[in-house]
Amino acid sequence: MKRIYLDYNAATPLDPRVLDVMMPYFKDGFGNPSSIHSFGMGAKCALDRAREQVAALINASPGEIVFTSGGSESNNYGVKGAALSELRKKGDHLVTTSVEHESVLEAFRSLEKSGFRVTYLGVDASGIIDLDELRDSISDETMLVSCIFANNETGTVMPIAEIARIVKEKGALFHTDAVQAAGKIKIDVNEVPADLLTISAHKFYGPKGAGALYVRDGINRNVRLRPLIHGGGQERGSRSGTENVPAVAGMGTASEIALRELKEDERRIKKLRDGLWERLSTSIAGFRLNGDIDGILFNTLNVYISGVSGDSLSMALDLDGIAVSTGSACSEGKVDPSHVLMAMGLSREEASSSVRFSLGRFTDNGEIETAAGIIPRAVERIREARGGSSAAL
Ligand SMILES: Cc1ncc(COP(=O)(O)O)c(C=O)c1O
Repeated sequence: MKRIYLDYNAATPLDPRVLDVMMPYFKDGFGNPSSIHSFGMGAKCALDRAREQVAALINASPGEIVFTSGGSESNNYGVKGAALSELRKKGDHLVTTSVEHESVLEAFRSLEKSGFRVTYLGVDASGIIDLDELRDSISDETMLVSCIFANNETGTVMPIAEIARIVKEKGALFHTDAVQAAGKIKIDVNEVPADLLTISAHKFYGPKGAGALYVRDGINRNVRLRPLIHGGGQERGSRSGTENVPAVAGMGTASEIALRELKEDERRIKKLRDGLWERLSTSIAGFRLNGDIDGILFNTLNVYISGVSGDSLSMALDLDGIAVSTGSACSEGKVDPSHVLMAMGLSREEASSSVRFSLGRFTDNGEIETAAGIIPRAVERIREARGGSSAAL
């Protein structure tokens, strides 16, 4: 059975072109980038090149990129590094949203335990925060605001440029978790005036264990984010530890490919995603999109299917060879329904009856055709086993 992977928001396959660039750094190019001999210099060159490529993806300067172990570390470094910096003198108030990834939410919760006050902004039925509420939530004592760029579960894209402008007008620092946006949406830090921005390589066909935090030039001079990891002072003192050279080199190439192929990926994947939506919404009764089709990432569909447990459906589909997800991949194993869907107003039952399909660069038409045939049958089987029929729903 050929398996069909529809869980690209959890992890993307490594692009073979990325693997080709990584391989030499597992072999002869194993040097430590901090060493001054030629082995070290080779590795250092790979980091320098990757820094340029990653910077270009978001139209930043190479000096504004700090390499990390991924999105979770970048989010923790951005949020806690800023909160625990000199800025603390300004005040102890922080603002974020109720639909963040756990790596942001938990960073804020840990700061709350250390005495910070945190405002969690709610969202509307499409998953967007209210801009007036944002404006009102920021006071003279607010040091940092963090808002997700594009949501991993629903694909909802926030009006991030406007949000960043409001935060900057009010004089607070702004961080955005752009893990799901990078490589899918053209990001330009001149248009989105974020001070801190998180990306992760394995969401855009790079390897796991590589990410970056963009730190706007000047921020570190004025604020000096507090490092999470102390040691040899790599990454200009921001993040100690020998850099993961093969993974960082891979992230560089993945960034270059994403930037070059962004438009083409979008055009192709959106067509497939829209086709899947069309087929499923006409063949399954009680089928509803969580979010607004015009305001979500082009590769994502998060849907509520009445009377069908998302976990049961994803397990049934896995047996049929189709990989989908319920809730965020990083929180799998938890029984709680998605905090994102509940923040959008879904009941616990509705949130538990939702699944996410996310497509990507290697999804093809044949796979979508096959999936569009299998999914309604799996839904029907689950409903029949529960004693209901789709006609009644
Ligand atoms: C929006 C978002 N932020 C952060 C992360 C964490 O990234 P990483 O897996 O690289 O730690 C993820 C991963 O699912 C994500 O989707």
